[in-house]
Amino acid sequence: MENPWNSRERQELLLSPRRERWFPRSAILQGLALGEGMAVADVGAGGGYLVEELALAVGQAGQVWAVDPSPQARALLTERFQDGRHPQVAVCDGTAAATSLAAATADRMVWMAIYHELLHDAPKGGGIDASFAEARRVLKPGGLLAIGDWRPVETEIGPPVAARVSRSDAGEQGRAAGFTLLSATDVSDAVWLLVLKAPAGD
Ligand SMILES: C[S@@+](CC[C@H](N)C(=O)[O-])C[C@H]1O[C@@H](n2cnc3c(N)ncnc32)[C@H](O)[C@@H]1O
Repeated sequence: MENPWNSRERQELLLSPRRERWFPRSAILQGLALGEGMAVADVGAGGGYLVEELALAVGQAGQVWAVDPSPQARALLTERFQDGRHPQVAVCDGTAAATSLAAATADRMVWMAIYHELLHDAPKGGGIDASFAEARRVLKPGGLLAIGDWRPVETEIGPPVAARVSRSDAGEQGRAAGFTLLSATDVSDAVWLLVLKAPAGD
């Protein structure tokens, strides 16, 4: 099946400031507890809804890998970040299950609005178990994985309710994959955020 996000129009819609209503960036960043010089992987980054904020939080001594399998997403990311204002941003072709990043290199990883897609075997992806295994490989020992996605309730926009997952089910899946659940909150009336910690040493 083709990735439904292989559409320039859909990728541009994801950058709409209206998304703050559901995905408030300040709350998401707070959960990530970023610091100067950290390396962050935004996996399924789309056109980069979070990327500029991540780049500002880690500074030029840090690194942001914006990973996405969609050529349209990567083209948009490249256009948005090629002006050199944020040289710490690199655009990468990859999926959550095969990011193309080296082992034990990321302090933080973000999966924003992709979890329901991974669960339902996202296009070109390897499913949820392979995605958690890849997160464990790429994160440094004790690194954090922040996952945000739609609550299974009716909302004005977003995926069908039947395709969504509750934060408790997602937390269980993270724990089963060897992560420790640090926090589970709602960042808006429609979106939950989990922060999971990778094991101290694999
Ligand atoms: C709803 S968009 C979210 C984009 C971005 N995280 C945001 O919040 O604006 C889902 C993104 O996941 C990407 N995607 C699809 N399959 C994927 C996979 N297996 N692994 C990682 N990302 C995937 C799509 O190309 C798309 O850009």
